Amino acid sequence: MSLLFVLFLLHITTVAADQLRPAFYSETCPKAESIVRDVMKEALIREPRSVASVMRFQFHDCLVNGCDASLLLDDTPSMLGEKEALSNINSLRSFEVIDEAKEALEKVCPGVVSCADIIIMAARDAVALTGGPDWEVRLGRLDSLTAKQEDSNDIMPSPRSNASLLIDLFDRFNLSVRDLVALSGSHSIGQARCFSIMFRLYNQSGAGRPDPSIEPKFREKLYKLCPTTVDQNVTGDLDATPRVFDNQYFKDLVAGRGFLNSDQTLFTLKQTRTFVKLFSKDQPEFFEAFVEGMLKMGDLQRDQPGEIRRNCRVVNSRHEHILGVLREKLIF
Ligand code: HEM
Ligand SMILES: *[C@@H]1O[C@H](CO)[C@@H](O)[C@H](O)[C@H]1NC(C)=O
Ligand SMILES: *[C@@H]1O[C@H](CO)[C@@H](O)[C@H](O)[C@H]1NC(C)=O
Ligand SMILES: *[C@@H]1O[C@H](CO)[C@@H](O)[C@H](O)[C@H]1NC(C)=O
Ligand SMILES: *[C@@H]1O[C@H](CO)[C@@H](O)[C@H](O)[C@H]1NC(C)=O
Repeated sequence: MSLLFVLFLLHITTVAADQLRPAFYSETCPKAESIVRDVMKEALIREPRSVASVMRFQFHDCLVNGCDASLLLDDTPSMLGEKEALSNINSLRSFEVIDEAKEALEKVCPGVVSCADIIIMAARDAVALTGGPDWEVRLGRLDSLTAKQEDSNDIMPSPRSNASLLIDLFDRFNLSVRDLVALSGSHSIGQARCFSIMFRLYNQSGAGRPDPSIEPKFREKLYKLCPTTVDQNVTGDLDATPRVFDNQYFKDLVAGRGFLNSDQTLFTLKQTRTFVKLFSKDQPEFFEAFVEGMLKMGDLQRDQPGEIRRNCRVVNSRHEHILGVLREKLIF
């Protein structure tokens, strides 16, 4: 096959990726969404935290070169991927839940549903299954052919970030202050490591003192959870109701009980505080803003060649790649 022809096919796949829409698989894999939801239901029963861990994938995938499942690629001898990037190493977890969804999908409709779309469906399901809103997602993404650790390191924010840095970062992706605060409400479920708050507890401004915005009783609790000698992989809850997707996270911020600095900082700056207060009092308003933010974040795309991976952790062989594209061309 000539190189030109292959390039032509690759071009077709990038163009196809631009048209995300609801019910994308209604003809090619009508059960796709219910299969993913069932896998998430099982994951929730097996280990409640795992659905939060999976939901986090959407953020870490979409900000780095668009929602393309680059996050899921394992390192290879010739490619240092995103899994060991600063924000991900020893932190991202529950990759096996995505593997299970992919396996189930490949049995029913092989080579049809992208890993990038699985992340988007699974993130939505995590929220819906823990008491949050449910919504229709736009699908039709392709999986990347590569990943780069640096790209994640350059973009993903640290838990030490302050609100003004986060506003600027989200703005680069056309995500508003309202989007930032609502999306941070994802921390309504899940946990974080002591590692992520040690500086905040013991050396916030470099003067050996804790972050003054932590409410004193909560600070005592955090000192007990994370003494200076702790194994920093020990985890604590991101809000007071870590298995329920609700607006408790915002009530906690108002009370000075945010876990991460990047959480509590949203109550420090006036621009973000307005939304924290609003969402703490009005859960439907939070849910609405959250869904809007997830849809916007889910639409982030890079113009790049892609494929439907057979295994979310590895790029298809070139042979499979061409076959896959050909099949797509012949069917549609
Ligand atoms: C605004 C900037 C954000 C920062 C700085 C941030 C940072 C973090 C950090 C440091 C952790 C804990 C990591 C660890 O200690 O291992 C975490 C956990 C988490 N993040 Fe974020 N995050 C942000 C936004 C988001 C967004 C937009 C989402 C999803 C829409 C999200 C979803 C989650 C979830 C669900 C967890 C808990 C995961 C688990 O229990 O395994 N975060 N985040
Ligand atoms: C926020 O963090 C950035 C980067 O660390 C820093 O340059 C800036 O001064 C901080 N802003 C405020 C208001 O503290
Ligand atoms: C943000 O919006 C502008 C104007 O609509 C657009 O040109 C730009 O590509 C968008 N940026 C991202 C990261 O989507
Ligand atoms: C606290 O931070 C400052 C500045 O980053 C550093 O010089 C100092 O060694 C730190 N202290 C401790 C106890 O880690
Ligand atoms: C957490 O555990 C991993 C291995 O499970 C280890 O490599 C890492 O150093 C630990 N991290 C901290 C901060 O103790």
